[in-house]
Amino acid sequence: MKLPILPEKLANFKPEIGLILGSGLSSFADDRIKLSGRLQYNEIEGFPISTAPGHIGQFIYGTICGKRVICMQGRLHFYEGYSMDQLTLPVRLMNSLGVQTLFITNAAGGIHRDYKPGDFMLLNDHINLLGTNPLIGLQGDKGVYFPDMSEVYDSTLRMKIRNWSEANKIELKEGVYLATTGPSYETPAEIRAFTLLGADAVGMSTVPEAIVARKLGMRVLGISCITNTAAGISETKLSHEEVSKTASRVSSQFADLLEAGINLA
Ligand code: HPA
Repeated sequence: MKLPILPEKLANFKPEIGLILGSGLSSFADDRIKLSGRLQYNEIEGFPISTAPGHIGQFIYGTICGKRVICMQGRLHFYEGYSMDQLTLPVRLMNSLGVQTLFITNAAGGIHRDYKPGDFMLLNDHINLLGTNPLIGLQGDKGVYFPDMSEVYDSTLRMKIRNWSEANKIELKEGVYLATTGPSYETPAEIRAFTLLGADAVGMSTVPEAIVARKLGMRVLGISCITNTAAGISETKLSHEEVSKTASRVSSQFADLLEAGINLA
């Protein structure tokens, strides 16, 4: 998919850091960015419009801790019916603007027995169970043909954020994120299977963007907000309301963590 032509106001901005905000986490952009401008997705020709509840659908750009950032307020998901090519277009677009470091956030279900709703998890790896790969058909594009994925999530940046969290008494887990397509939540049997596979948390996003970003040579950092315990672990039924409620309950602590990460990047 060809990159769309961007309005001059954004094309001239030259962001260093990109942010993708997950379900219920979009207030970060309003609260923490010293605003330079906004651009609605529907102002960009051919840009997919995000339809998932809680996802607004605009780029917000400005500075955080003096660093130029561009933030997706509203991400695109595979379950919305987009092709992999469409849903990773924003990553390629951010890369073309000069973004070197990409922070990807998400809401996720906790599989690890120690995880509870409201916890934060740094991704140290992922398992792609989406049944496809976002690079299929894009081998000729920028970047290597068979990109290495042995360290998708930057270990140096993770270490700095871990140190910051310890010093600031924000509990931070670190684990493996498994991506499913959704939009149905998992069955308890699937969660038991994912435990055996080595997953600590499960969600419906992040992995396509991370894979494309790595192909393009970007540094990637992933943070999950554990919004619920995964299916079958708690007695209660899963719902988007629970996901949104937890994400909004911890949103200011999450914002502190993300802002610190940006400062350390
Ligand atoms: N499963 C999949 N995606 C999710 C979950 C979950 O339990 N919680 C938030 N996003």
